Amino acid sequence: MNEAILLNRIPDLKKVHLFEELESTNDLGKTLLADSSIELPALIYTSKQTRGRGRNGKSWISSPGSLTFSFLVDSRSTQSLPHESLIWGLAVANALNSLTPETCPLLSVKWPNDVMADEKKIAGILIESTARSTQGRVVGIGINLSNSPSRVPDSTGRLNAISVEELTGKQLDVVDVLTAVWNLWNQFRKMQNELIIDSFAQCDFLKTRQIQFECGDLCISGNYQGIDSRGAIQIHTGSQLKTFASGSITGFGPPQKQRSS
Ligand code: BTN
Repeated sequence: MNEAILLNRIPDLKKVHLFEELESTNDLGKTLLADSSIELPALIYTSKQTRGRGRNGKSWISSPGSLTFSFLVDSRSTQSLPHESLIWGLAVANALNSLTPETCPLLSVKWPNDVMADEKKIAGILIESTARSTQGRVVGIGINLSNSPSRVPDSTGRLNAISVEELTGKQLDVVDVLTAVWNLWNQFRKMQNELIIDSFAQCDFLKTRQIQFECGDLCISGNYQGIDSRGAIQIHTGSQLKTFASGSITGFGPPQKQRSS
């Protein structure tokens, strides 16, 4: 990994921070954003992240072959927050698909931005900003590239992750992946709202599934009904359609066969 190559492939970047080892690229990103003179966008990359964080206070464990990085972006480059989350998931899924066209089945996105393949998680995204800085956002991305997560159970004993190499037999080049994610994010963020929602619908992992969902103290089960025009999740419970702008999916069933009309 080399700074000059990265700046050449992603000329938008004002600064690249490379580390052999780092606790968390997101933690460093938040520290850097506190400095009002920081030039954006920037990239933080480490080949060994030792204390990665995931969504909802969980930790993100990295093993050799996993890709961990954070883009620091100007908040003004993505105006609406709900879509910001979706767009990064779409960018990562499409980037991996474009680099592994033989991937079957195609990668999908589990609301809001987990990237899934073969019913397992292949990449996760943690977007953060700091109270002291409204100028920028840290977009932390962890991708299972060449590690073997399908052989390592998670804290609940489940084997629920997979890597690109396990799925396709292919070892992707890290710079190719970073470049593709950045370029696709740039394409998605300039798209019309309806096109983003359509793109999400095309690779929506939760489509036709029963899900369990948590938002604060509320836990519900219901039929997933897609996302609304603001990117909020819609769930049918009993006779009601409920909409949530935030929250997390705590469980999901298999896809159901659609009834033909
Ligand atoms: C999730 O799915 O829970 C989000 C995982 C995000 C992990 C990435 S790895 C790079 C960046 N640094 C961190 O500490 N977390 C994110």
